[in-house]
Amino acid sequence: MYVLESRRHLTIPTHLPHALLERPGHPPVLQIYSAKVFPLRKLQNIYPGRIRRITLRSSSPFQLRIGRRLLITSDHRIVSSRNRSIPRLKIRAGPAFGSGEHATTHLCLRYLTQSLLQYTKSSPTVLDLGCGSGILALACAKLGVQALGWDLDPTAIQEAQRNAKVNRLTSRILFQTKDALRAPLPKADLIVANLYDSLLLHLLPRLEKHRKTGTTIILSGILKGQEIAVIRTARKLGWKLQRRGRLARWHCLQFQP
Ligand SMILES: C[S@@+](CC[C@H](N)C(=O)[O-])C[C@H]1O[C@@H](n2cnc3c(N)ncnc32)[C@H](O)[C@@H]1O
Repeated sequence: MYVLESRRHLTIPTHLPHALLERPGHPPVLQIYSAKVFPLRKLQNIYPGRIRRITLRSSSPFQLRIGRRLLITSDHRIVSSRNRSIPRLKIRAGPAFGSGEHATTHLCLRYLTQSLLQYTKSSPTVLDLGCGSGILALACAKLGVQALGWDLDPTAIQEAQRNAKVNRLTSRILFQTKDALRAPLPKADLIVANLYDSLLLHLLPRLEKHRKTGTTIILSGILKGQEIAVIRTARKLGWKLQRRGRLARWHCLQFQP
């Protein structure tokens, strides 16, 4: 994953995740994330002198336990004997966002796994908008659920399909290159969207028919301070805030009709 940093305003291509990081006493820093360096270099050419740096962030092997239900790891060899009995999902730190290490992903995994527990009689369907590596949809499939993942980046979809094969989950999951803000959204019991706040604000009005049919939505990728606008917009559209959580400076919101 490449990260571009700038202290100045830039016009960001819509498909690139980004965040404005603010620390008291420091000027805000804009970070733009990309699996490939090329789109960031392009921005560097458009805005000469405005980019502080572009860095490659490689991650060391890691494991993340989501309660007793799921273990996500980049390398099976580091799983301790204590955790070997927990269902495991292998996700490599590849070219798509979603290794599990980021707070936004972590919060979604927690909320998704807890929400799935409420479906005792029937098996729910899950729609993952902005699936990146496929980690969220794959976690649901690992827990026995049918899942569909969309991303507008074809590289992310290739990576998600690769992860589905590695984890032998292809029968329960489908990944498609689609724009969540344009393509007609299929029915689902649960929708998770780890995008950023401006995309979520555009997405919410598109979920009207899902609200009417009782879908639960989990929205993530929301920086501290941005959650207010998301909650306000969702409430105006008739959603009820069911749960909210924070990890580092990131918020995750769960709504029900
Ligand atoms: C922050 S990453 C989330 C990845 C993964 N779901 C996770 O939770 O770790 C956001 C993803 O959304 C994708 N994306 C951005 N805009 C989108 C859109 N309009 N439709 C579908 N995917 C989009 C990006 O390509 C990126 O892979």
